[in-house]
Amino acid sequence: MRRQIVAGNWKMNNDLVETETLINDLKKQTKTSHAEVKIAPTFTSLWSAFQATREDDIEVVAQNMHFAENGAYTGEISASMLKSIGVKTVILGHSERRAYFNETDADLAKKVDTAMANNMEVIFCFGEELQDRKSGNEEKVVEAQIKKALFHLEASAFKKIILAYEPVWAIGTGETATPQQAQDMHAFIRKTLATNYGKEVANAVSILYGGSVKPNNAKEIFSKPDVDGGLIGGASLKAQDFYAIVNAF
Ligand code: G3P
Repeated sequence: MRRQIVAGNWKMNNDLVETETLINDLKKQTKTSHAEVKIAPTFTSLWSAFQATREDDIEVVAQNMHFAENGAYTGEISASMLKSIGVKTVILGHSERRAYFNETDADLAKKVDTAMANNMEVIFCFGEELQDRKSGNEEKVVEAQIKKALFHLEASAFKKIILAYEPVWAIGTGETATPQQAQDMHAFIRKTLATNYGKEVANAVSILYGGSVKPNNAKEIFSKPDVDGGLIGGASLKAQDFYAIVNAF
């Protein structure tokens, strides 16, 4: 049985007080599924969030990190800094970082290597643009993204990799991929993993779907055989909505 995971990517939302308020609301929710619950506050709230959830079945993860261990990288955060505040999982490759901060697959390969070297777990994001899908190139684009950033890794490294397929055209738009579209791409990703690393590795990697997952569509999306959960944006900012998704298995 693969790990079922629901992670909330808060993006650039919630200051310290709002973080504490939302975490208090999350702690009041009841989890009825076996899903692992993760939340990704902004850097300024990570320590507070980690302390507030220490006794709870909620893991705090980071939204990004630099590939260097330390040095002259103004404004950046390193793996060791994240680990020093108890954070052991990091989201890498989100489409917003690729779009707004020009992160390339080569940059992301370096960040993944640093995470692996620091024994961190990675939620690795990737997904096609609307024009890629309209031109029927979605599989080619996704295959290139995961191969360039991940396929230099040893098979054993995939124990620390969670994949998150997020079609860019579905992020924040309310335009969710259909459950079948999600299943088709996840099955393609798993087949690509199997071809390069064998069935055992491919069947063990959790593949999350992200892109306008809401309480009213999560159950159908999560019911698909190759969908192992979701990476949730907007709906993760409301405790009840987020746990409606956590419990949608
Ligand atoms: O990382 C998850 C995010 O990109 C999805 O956002 O608001 O469409 O759920 P949203």
